[in-house]
Amino acid sequence: MSPISRTIESTDLETIVSLAKRRGFVFQASEIYGGLGSTWDYGPLGVELKRNVKDMWWKSMVRDRDDIVGLDSAILQSPEVWMASGHVENFSDPLVECGGCHRRFRADHVGDKCPYCGESKFSEPRQFNLLFKTFMGPVEDEAAVVYLRPETAQGIFINFDNVQTTTRKRIPFGIAQIGKSFRNEVTPGNFIFRTREFEQMEMEYFCKPGSDEEWHRYWIDFSDDWFKKFGIRGEKLRIREHEADELPHYSKGSADIEYEFPWGWGELETISNRTDFDLKAHIKRSGRDLSYFDDAAKERFVPYVVEPAMGADRSALAFMADAYDEEGEGKEKRTVLHFHPDIAPVAVAVLPLSRNEKLAPKAREVYDLVRASFNAQFDDTQSIGRRYRRQDEIGTPLCVTVDFQTVEEDNAVTIRDRDTMVQVRVPIDGLKAALEDQIDKLREACHG
Ligand code: GAP
Repeated sequence: MSPISRTIESTDLETIVSLAKRRGFVFQASEIYGGLGSTWDYGPLGVELKRNVKDMWWKSMVRDRDDIVGLDSAILQSPEVWMASGHVENFSDPLVECGGCHRRFRADHVGDKCPYCGESKFSEPRQFNLLFKTFMGPVEDEAAVVYLRPETAQGIFINFDNVQTTTRKRIPFGIAQIGKSFRNEVTPGNFIFRTREFEQMEMEYFCKPGSDEEWHRYWIDFSDDWFKKFGIRGEKLRIREHEADELPHYSKGSADIEYEFPWGWGELETISNRTDFDLKAHIKRSGRDLSYFDDAAKERFVPYVVEPAMGADRSALAFMADAYDEEGEGKEKRTVLHFHPDIAPVAVAVLPLSRNEKLAPKAREVYDLVRASFNAQFDDTQSIGRRYRRQDEIGTPLCVTVDFQTVEEDNAVTIRDRDTMVQVRVPIDGLKAALEDQIDKLREACHG
């Protein structure tokens, strides 16, 4: 199968936001109350899309490998964790206030002029800490302050010894985690790209000091390949090494995987060489031994850590933006999302030719057969042409149509391909195998 081509190279963010809302991918959170700054709710298709992104990451990181295990740590941890990690002291952005309208911006995100009032006078930058604070228990005083985690990584570091001793993993090995993180961003924006509540997919890879540079390179390449494997076009991705002055406080070296979003290049993932910074910081503050004993070399050391840290929401946005296409003109015009079949919210739609009682039982039987193996949707409303268009617009790779010939003549159905719109007729007996075969071919064609 030849690679999937696009008619248009890209579209603007408004088009994606509008499709996301119209088709039930993403809604503004608290919309009926006017919304709450930069928070979003995932609708029925969005939740499937994001789940697929997370599942594919988990499969690639944990299920398909012997050297990485999973973890699901608490969002609320002892404040000591964030003191040790440096977040209470260092996790801040430079904030400036506009002299005209008094709006606040991240100094490194705003240009020379205020985007709202055009004023070019700003206050001196001051450091604004991004940690969200709340209180644990019934008393709201300093002693009850806890933080919502700003990264999932620290839950992994503080469990290093628990995981290593219970799994008896030998170094190098990794611990992966997916979960919500919270940052009180000064300037959230660009839809689900920068928000104050978001999901991260992070993996801490513990290795021997001295092997860290090699593993850093390995995980940069792995991450770049991961996005391509699931359909992001190679020319829309780039790897950007951090300059020394933008390195996070824990990092010896970081590289971003960036995607060319409608507004320009934006970070999807950072791969950092965190050295032994975090484990040593927790050893010092907690007094617990988090070192590792290498039986073969008979030596004890504090492992170095290489961390691929990816955002699930940003990745979902990149998958949507990259899949978007508009083809044809006039009545033939169609919007299509060329999702990879493992990323598409619906893999197979089952569509009876019409809502006719002769077709209904067979169509339901086919639907039951299909949904046992694929994420499937049944739709018998409106004309078949419109239903194909609707499935194209949400990126469903394959549609199975049950028609009168199915029930009256051949007990066969048609499979329609989203990208080529070619239809093939297959007996229901062989439907599952035929769908699997087409999906396999599509996986290959989607490789970016
Ligand atoms: N543990 C390292 C860490 O958290 P990061 O570069 O700050 O590194 C990792 O975050 C990834 O999390 C980013 O590449 C991005 O995809 C996602 N992310 C970070 N802040 C975000 C925000 N405010 N909104 C949405 N995603 C965010």
